[in-house]
Amino acid sequence: MRLRRRVIQASLVVVGLSLFAAPAAAQSVNRAAIDDLNEQLLYVALPLTLFVELTLVYVIYRFRNNDDPKPTVDDPALEVTWTAATGAILVFVGVSAFVVMANPYITPAAAEASTDGDAFADDTEIDVLAYQWGWEFSYADTNVTTEERLVIPADENVTFRLQTTDVIHAIYIPQLGVKQDIFPGRTMTARTRATEPGEYRLYCAEMCGAGHSKMDATVVVKNQSAYDAWVENQTAAAG
Ligand code: CUA
Repeated sequence: MRLRRRVIQASLVVVGLSLFAAPAAAQSVNRAAIDDLNEQLLYVALPLTLFVELTLVYVIYRFRNNDDPKPTVDDPALEVTWTAATGAILVFVGVSAFVVMANPYITPAAAEASTDGDAFADDTEIDVLAYQWGWEFSYADTNVTTEERLVIPADENVTFRLQTTDVIHAIYIPQLGVKQDIFPGRTMTARTRATEPGEYRLYCAEMCGAGHSKMDATVVVKNQSAYDAWVENQTAAAG
């Protein structure tokens, strides 16, 4: 009895801690989609983990004095049940993950390929040039270019056209849920809609030589009017 109570208490602690681990509000639609997926998978994984561990603890306790164990007999019903249950869980995990993968913010190239490439014509477009070792950002329809500092408007769809002058790099903005490898000779696409003005870290996530660790930048998300004012200011400064 006391053991069972302990097990129940331990389970409650695990559930309680997992609630504390819940992520704060997402800073972009990408991040929201990824966080939601994580949460969904947690809801599946947590009961399963508890079920398996509690069964294990119970069996250890129940058969602790079993000096004369007998072999188990086949139980087709049980086998069909656990095979079907496992199959259903895998299908659920696969479908949930695929839906997020197909999201036009997470995998914009797929959405673009299915619409003759003009799906994101209304987005704010920014050309990103990665090189050993740094980042250059050029804002379409302006003559503005920045180094190591990427400024984007909040609540606006932003499309990044990514190129590299040398080796493979990868743009990674963890808090916005943006990550994309950039291959030489190709233009890659990444996309987001940031929802929270603020400053976020951007860095290269592909080992690209001695300066790889220095290849970082700051992402500044400004609300629309602040962004417009910034572009105007930069344009005047450049002109
Ligand atoms: Cu570029 Cu690592």
